[in-house]
Amino acid sequence: MKAGSQTDGSSTSELFKQARSWLEVDWRRLEKSFAGREDLFRGKRILVTGAAGFLGFNFLNFFSYLNTKEGEPVTVVAADNYVRGHPRWLLELANADPHLISKRCDITLPWQDTEMKFDFIIHAASIASPPVYRKFPLETLDANIVGLRHMLDLARQHDSGSLLYFSTSEIYGDPPPNEIPTKETYKGNVSCLGPRACYDESKRVGETLSAIYAQQYQVPVKIIRPFNNYGPGLRLADGRVLPDFSRDALNDRDIILYSDGSPTRTFCYSADALMGYLLALLSPHNGEPFNIGTEEPEISMRDVATLLLRVAGSNRKVVHQVSEEADYLIDNPNRRCPDLSKARNLLGYSPTVSLEEGLGRMLEWYKYYVELEEMIKD
Ligand SMILES: NC(=O)c1ccc[n+]([C@@H]2O[C@H](COP(=O)([O-])OP(=O)(O)OC[C@H]3O[C@@H](n4cnc5c(N)ncnc54)[C@H](O)[C@@H]3O)[C@@H](O)[C@H]2O)c1
Repeated sequence: MKAGSQTDGSSTSELFKQARSWLEVDWRRLEKSFAGREDLFRGKRILVTGAAGFLGFNFLNFFSYLNTKEGEPVTVVAADNYVRGHPRWLLELANADPHLISKRCDITLPWQDTEMKFDFIIHAASIASPPVYRKFPLETLDANIVGLRHMLDLARQHDSGSLLYFSTSEIYGDPPPNEIPTKETYKGNVSCLGPRACYDESKRVGETLSAIYAQQYQVPVKIIRPFNNYGPGLRLADGRVLPDFSRDALNDRDIILYSDGSPTRTFCYSADALMGYLLALLSPHNGEPFNIGTEEPEISMRDVATLLLRVAGSNRKVVHQVSEEADYLIDNPNRRCPDLSKARNLLGYSPTVSLEEGLGRMLEWYKYYVELEEMIKD
């Protein structure tokens, strides 16, 4: 079946209902690992920035799942500037859940709404896809530095219980072999110039800003360093590697690699990553970083492409090609793999989804629900 094709011609709303119940497998697993701690979100107001993005999709759907259960509802304000349009799944979710308020806003401008106070702020707005941040370097810097400062000020004014700042594993740059798996104590090997610098360096400044607000103003900000997440909600046209590989596999094409296939990464399934993010949000560890991801398998691009073809049931192969983008491989890290001992010991974080299972779920999402990724101009 081709990506985006549908099995039964049902309406988008019907498709959305199916998607919601299909996603429940992830939320039930998450709920089990929280063992009741998810109730700490009940009756609370949560601001999610970057809500229309991949991680926003997962946060919103999880909170909305909690709202289908008994107990006080979680009120979520879903903020995004919708630069690439308003995703259909978000319109459908806001129609289905009266406790979800969708709000267009640009976080590089000061927060305007003074009415609602937030107990928690999940600040996920950024430009995260490499081809997009290479195209919009100044907007990337502004979202990661100016936008974060606005959110830190908002948390301070509202006396919020906790703020989650999304840094990145990219702040480590290209670590030497003796620093892999990489601990939070490794200081990084990052270029301040070059095509990736707008992202990597602004995320580093973001950590500095967060630590200063925690020390000087006691803002309860948590710093997360995610390592390559994937799963439902990551748009097929996003530009990150696994959606690109999935698009090729689902369209019955060979997978094209724009490197020699040797760089390695670890890939963390979205529901596992969400567990780490929410545990950090609820933790008392302010102003200090946590790696969130998986330690294994550390897999080469060639091998993950081959695995994805196998999971997709495709007979196609992996081929190499030189990217038309001259900057494509500049400063691309050779290896990336987290040491998760700190998150395991202090947060109780414990990812469980295998790469094979996670890829299977992501492919299933694309097969059936790609229509919900459609961007609506409004
Ligand atoms: N997903 C990962 O594997 C990963 C890895 C490392 C770091 N992160 C970080 O986690 C956060 C979320 O990542 P994601 O994968 O969901 O990214 P995403 O690109 O899917 O979503 C980001 C969202 O932010 C919005 N946005 C961008 N600039 C904005 C602005 N000025 N005002 C309001 N909204 C704006 C975009 O419209 C988009 O919907 C980002 O900070 C990203 O850098 C993610």
